Amino acid sequence: MRNHAVSRRECLTLLGSAATVTAFSVNLACNKETPRPEKAGIDYFKQNGRWFNEARFGLFMHWGVYAIPGRGEWVMYDEKIPAAEYAKLADQFNPTRFNAEQWAEHALRAGMRYAVLTSRHHDGFCLWDSKVSDFTAPKTAAKRDFLAEYANAFRKAGLRVGFYYSLLDWRKKAYWDGPVKNPQAWAEYLEYVHAQARELCTQYGKLDVFWFDGCWPYDPPSWKSEELLTMIRSLQPEILINDRSALPGDFDTPENAILPSDRGWESCQTTQESWGYNSNEKQLDSLWFILNKLITCASKGGNLLLNVGPRPDGAFPQPVIDRLAEVGDWLRVHGETIYGSEPVTAHYNYHVATRKGKLVHIHFRWGENLHWPAWGPYWLYGVEERVESAFIPATGQSVPVLWQDGKVRLELPREYPGTMGTVALTLA
Ligand code: GLC
Repeated sequence: MRNHAVSRRECLTLLGSAATVTAFSVNLACNKETPRPEKAGIDYFKQNGRWFNEARFGLFMHWGVYAIPGRGEWVMYDEKIPAAEYAKLADQFNPTRFNAEQWAEHALRAGMRYAVLTSRHHDGFCLWDSKVSDFTAPKTAAKRDFLAEYANAFRKAGLRVGFYYSLLDWRKKAYWDGPVKNPQAWAEYLEYVHAQARELCTQYGKLDVFWFDGCWPYDPPSWKSEELLTMIRSLQPEILINDRSALPGDFDTPENAILPSDRGWESCQTTQESWGYNSNEKQLDSLWFILNKLITCASKGGNLLLNVGPRPDGAFPQPVIDRLAEVGDWLRVHGETIYGSEPVTAHYNYHVATRKGKLVHIHFRWGENLHWPAWGPYWLYGVEERVESAFIPATGQSVPVLWQDGKVRLELPREYPGTMGTVALTLA
């Protein structure tokens, strides 16, 4: 939520829904309390969500005409830019460096297994050839269907493909008026939204994730969410739907927070302040910070969907490309602690840990400062099963180990083994 908290708050207040504001600032999913109208949910996730749980790490991309001013994806709302003026950005949106295969390369290089791209954000600009809108990339300067290029390239690269779609469209008066004030206009607005969702599910082959956003401040009946979800599932029987259609969907999406739940969940996180490209933001999350999020999510049974805001010319910012490559370097050595790993509930002296079969990975990280207990033999508590051996994945060094009644004595080497201080234990 970061720097948008205030503007979203304003936005909701404007819509006269103070109660939603509070709920919204805690968790973006609307109407969490609404009972599931359909049987999907947990059972559905168990059946279709296996790949998602195994993947653990995905790429989120916020990209649209807002990349041109370069002040984040909320620029239209924050700066009160009238729709007609904002629309002119599409005449300049001609991203000559856009190359979906290169994007897929960056994702693979980072060790990501799936991706979600904004098909349309709150500003209404569509990256695809929507028949119910003229504010689309194919119908303006770019004359390209970026969503098609993205879906094809990512699928070809072996990555799972997701579309983000915002229910709200700031340009439409009907959205601001809502279903009560102007039911006729709202009905037309709903037709537009449902038609777009149908297009997304029929024009781009098999989709893995439908990632809703922007349901606030209206409830499921207003959005006809149940109908919407039923339609999506009938067109894309194996698709996973997130929790922001005003109904719970299949998995939760805590934003810039790690909040485990008993359903599937994925923490979406920015690497800078904004989600969309912001040329004023020079600071990028450190490698440690990103890896810490990733291992913390995995250790609690969830995913990390890490965001990038590509530039207006279509390229990823170079510092982001470099950071993703560093993440990938770490994952190449430590992938076993992430992909297909299971959460660890034992506290292991409060170190973050994951488990995969007989392999337990413990990350001796504590703040960004080193927490490497190499001052002598180190006792680790809460290890119920017998430990046979231990080693340091980064160096391949083996660590002398002695298991005794639920605790284990490790003789760690003096030198810190790098970034997360990871030690692997092999259980008997
Ligand atoms: C919020 C924001 C939006 C961002 C999203 C990512 O809903 O409005 O800008 O796309 O969260 O979680």
